[in-house]
Amino acid sequence: MARRPTVARTVPSLRRAMAPYRDAGERIALVLTMGALHRGHLALVREAQRQARRVVVSIFVNPTQFAPHEDFGSYPRRFETDIAALTEAKADLVWAPAAAVMYPDGFATHIEPAGAAKAGLEDKFRPHFFGGVATVVAKLFTQVSPDLALFGEKDYQQLRVVTQMAKDLDLPLTVIGVPTVRETDGLALSSRNVYLSAQQRSVAPTLYRVLQRSAARINKGETIARVLDDGRAEIARAGFALDYLEARHALTLAAIASRKDGPIRLLVAAKIGKTRLIDNVGV
Ligand code: PAJ
Repeated sequence: MARRPTVARTVPSLRRAMAPYRDAGERIALVLTMGALHRGHLALVREAQRQARRVVVSIFVNPTQFAPHEDFGSYPRRFETDIAALTEAKADLVWAPAAAVMYPDGFATHIEPAGAAKAGLEDKFRPHFFGGVATVVAKLFTQVSPDLALFGEKDYQQLRVVTQMAKDLDLPLTVIGVPTVRETDGLALSSRNVYLSAQQRSVAPTLYRVLQRSAARINKGETIARVLDDGRAEIARAGFALDYLEARHALTLAAIASRKDGPIRLLVAAKIGKTRLIDNVGV
């Protein structure tokens, strides 16, 4: 039986638990999560273990990245199951602060990222989101002070925003992106997939299918605008309410008109029933 990872719940206990790693000069990786762990999160843990001696996993459902009408209250919370998965994965330390530890009374500082955070993708539909993410990620980086932090490509705009923030603020760590883990039918793993009914689950892989087909057509030289129009129509036909299907520059997320403006990333967000799904692929 693997050893249960230490669980730290306050900043002083986190520092105490990490002191031996620092004293030994060990390389430390941080995987940031909101819990309800699935194979996607565990792929980040595995990649972290390949690149560092010690792996810290944060579990914190961050209230400031949810709007009042979003699913903060019902977001899946499965702490004991998560700890069991992290025991099996041999994570070293779990950082699980309460909201009052992260945001004590009088907390008054907010990081508002620009650039990729204002690309008109997730930010257009969740205007509060990247401010909440950047602020909590900056705090988690400072609390843990890792050498590297791993993020999934699944949340591609988030990966770009966090990478830019670390650079802009001279944070002494490397941000690493990890490819999206998928179900066998292509659906990207997400903690929110548990919300899907059987019928919704059966059409959910349409998003990835459209992304792949669109990427292949763009690579063959078809006009991007036309390919995206076809993709949007197919997603709507499958029963989704589409937020966006866009082709953007893979690093800046700026709009692009042709393949020459690349490298290109295709990004999609759509709602099926009440559940909002996002996905993306490189071209
Ligand atoms: P959460 O949605 O729990 O995701 C935690 C990390 O797991 C993110 O880096 C995300 O991109 C990655 N991830 C999720 N699904 C994945 C998949 N199918 N394949 C690969 N990686 C995947 O993203 C957040 O939490 C929060 O915004 C956070 C960064 C923790 C800040 O609160």
